[in-house]
Amino acid sequence: MRTTVGIVGAGPAGLLLARLLHRAGIDAVVLESRDRAYVEQRQRAGILEQGTVDVLRAAGAGGRMDREGLRHDGIELRHAGRRHRIDFPALTGGRSVMVYAQTEVCKDLIALQLKEGGPLLFGAEALAVEGAEGDRPRVRFRHEGREDVLECDYVVGCDGFWGVARKAVPAALSRVFERTYPFAWLGILADVPPSHDELVYARHDRGFALLSMRSPTVSRLYLQVPAGTDPAAWGDEEIWDELERRLETTDGWRLRRGPVTAKSVTPMRSHVHEPMRHGRLFLAGDAAHIVPPTGAKGLNLAVGDVVTFARALVHLRDTGSAALLDSYGETCLGRVWQAERFSYDMTTLLHRDPAASPFEERLQLARLERFATSRSAAADLAEGYTGFPFEAAAPGGTPRP
Ligand code: FAD
Ligand code: DHB
Repeated sequence: MRTTVGIVGAGPAGLLLARLLHRAGIDAVVLESRDRAYVEQRQRAGILEQGTVDVLRAAGAGGRMDREGLRHDGIELRHAGRRHRIDFPALTGGRSVMVYAQTEVCKDLIALQLKEGGPLLFGAEALAVEGAEGDRPRVRFRHEGREDVLECDYVVGCDGFWGVARKAVPAALSRVFERTYPFAWLGILADVPPSHDELVYARHDRGFALLSMRSPTVSRLYLQVPAGTDPAAWGDEEIWDELERRLETTDGWRLRRGPVTAKSVTPMRSHVHEPMRHGRLFLAGDAAHIVPPTGAKGLNLAVGDVVTFARALVHLRDTGSAALLDSYGETCLGRVWQAERFSYDMTTLLHRDPAASPFEERLQLARLERFATSRSAAADLAEGYTGFPFEAAAPGGTPRP
């Protein structure tokens, strides 16, 4: 098999990249180790930044998102029983976010790819990326019990944190920047209308809690739990009781309970692999960097990376200049480190660190108070949460036949 761009992984990064390249008239093949149902049902992100929404629309993948997604103009911060709303449009000159689940983004992009795009192989596990330093990089993969080779001009590793692409960057050239946290998130999906019309991020002496949603009838909620917690150790009523305690307010707000339909635990990690490019291998999304979920940045960063790559490749084709491809890593890492900073700040602002000293706990409360009293502190949070604008909505301009 031969193609221009070999894409490893069909998460949001790989699927969107395939769509952007197809619209620009560039061949690509996507290899995905899991089956379609697994990719479409894996519960993860829920919040799309303004820039991500704009890119999906420009890529012709925003139809259902615009019909079913929920535009949110703010979030609520809670602590000590008090509530403070951060008003995004007022603080950012009109920006907002969209509640539209990663599962739905993936379903939309898979349907478009299978209908209009190039090959997307499920059950195709990449074993290794080879020859990245030369002109003809290859992906060795296993599909339907047989080993095969995909020969490419470029390989983009969109295979997430546990993928193989990153391993093709020699250890001597790699630098990893990492932080792990002593806590994790226990997440549930529940068939009950959200108890508030915007997301609620709560800091409590017992730990962090987050109220989110998937639709007007489905709630998504998270609780801070110790790292390594087994989700089965928490009964449904126990989870609701704990959510109620941590989200409690002094003004009579009530949490609605309903049947829990899914339960899982997500570890929290900050991780950046530099460089993001080695020869003709480019890393994008979670394959290159992870953020703790508190800032809702992971999927949005993946989108930023693949937009940058697609634009750079189109630029090379149209002008003969590799300048944008050469600056791929640098361009992405600027944005990545801003998101790392924001996600770290949100995480340390809202979680209860078992090792924190009383002094540090007081500082945390003082940081929270700032949002209620300082417009510039609130504006900084709103800017980070809604995300910085992408340089251009979509590469490639008008689609080619
Ligand atoms: P992935 O989604 O991990 O996709 C990688 C794909 O590669 C997978 O389909 C995998 O099966 C495939 N793959 C792996 N190895 C191979 C191989 N060897 N061969 C072929 N295929 C392979 N982000 C946000 O922006 N907003 C949020 O609100 C948010 N909330 C989150 C909540 C939770 C609970 C979690 C866990 C994450 C959250 N994130 C959020 C992060 C977000 O889900 C990820 O950043 C995002 O999935 C990254 O996309 P990706 O395509 O880079 O990687
Ligand atoms: C969701 C996840 C997040 O990490 C976040 O910050 C907000 C919402 C969600 O899954 O709905």
